[in-house]
Amino acid sequence: MKKIIVLKNIRKSFVIGERNIDVLKGIDLEIEDGEFLAIQGVSGSGKSTLLYILGLMDRPTSGEYLLQGRRVEHLEDEELSDLRNALFGFVFQQFYLIDYLNAYDNVILPILYSKKAIPYPRQRARRLLDRLGLSNRYFSKPSQLSGGEQQRVAIARALINEPQVILADEPTGQLDSRTANEIMDIFSTLNNEGKTIIMVTHDEAMAKRAKRILRIKDGLLFS
Ligand SMILES: Nc1ncnc2c1ncn2[C@@H]1O[C@H](COP(=O)(O)OP(=O)(O)O)[C@@H](O)[C@H]1O
Ligand SMILES: [Mg+2]
Repeated sequence: MKKIIVLKNIRKSFVIGERNIDVLKGIDLEIEDGEFLAIQGVSGSGKSTLLYILGLMDRPTSGEYLLQGRRVEHLEDEELSDLRNALFGFVFQQFYLIDYLNAYDNVILPILYSKKAIPYPRQRARRLLDRLGLSNRYFSKPSQLSGGEQQRVAIARALINEPQVILADEPTGQLDSRTANEIMDIFSTLNNEGKTIIMVTHDEAMAKRAKRILRIKDGLLFS
């Protein structure tokens, strides 16, 4: 299997006033193309920090990040955002949908910022919404949708640019357990179709839905 992500001795510290907090203290991680990985840890353990580094939304303080075999820590911001948009789709606990846009427009929006040529974007947006059980919700605003529906719109949006990897930060954190399991069913299906899924969560039951679980504790990863 092809390694898509390799982290070597990744450290991340934040400076707050006079204090330095070391959140990640030497993370080593290898992720293969097609994996479904959960990283589980308690609140404050550094899960989001790690996911932001993986998703090229933040830079490590030190260490190596090889993405598809290429070192990325020292790339310019613009190169990072191009890589990010080409490779990753993001799903967050808070959905982050745009309130004044309907479901369809939320899904199609990332195409406008993409340098990738996605054929038939409008048809693709409709197909994704249909696949996610939202065929009667195209014109609904986020406020008219349930939490589970909002998260499915967010997943469709994450998929519109055909990312190789889905990065999910507590994607079920605002959902009841039945809806949460429906969201995990979607991730499992996507993974079975070849999508790499990396999810961070505090929730043991959700972590168990992945094919591999790692724990994050005291700034380090454990299997
Ligand atoms: N931008 C930041 N500035 C300062 N401290 C931060 C920042 N981001 C995260 N932290 C701190 O890093 C620690 C880990 O945070 P986070 O990665 O959000 O944990 P988790 O997602 O596991 O709850 C926390 O103590 C948090 O306060
Ligand atoms: Mg977090």
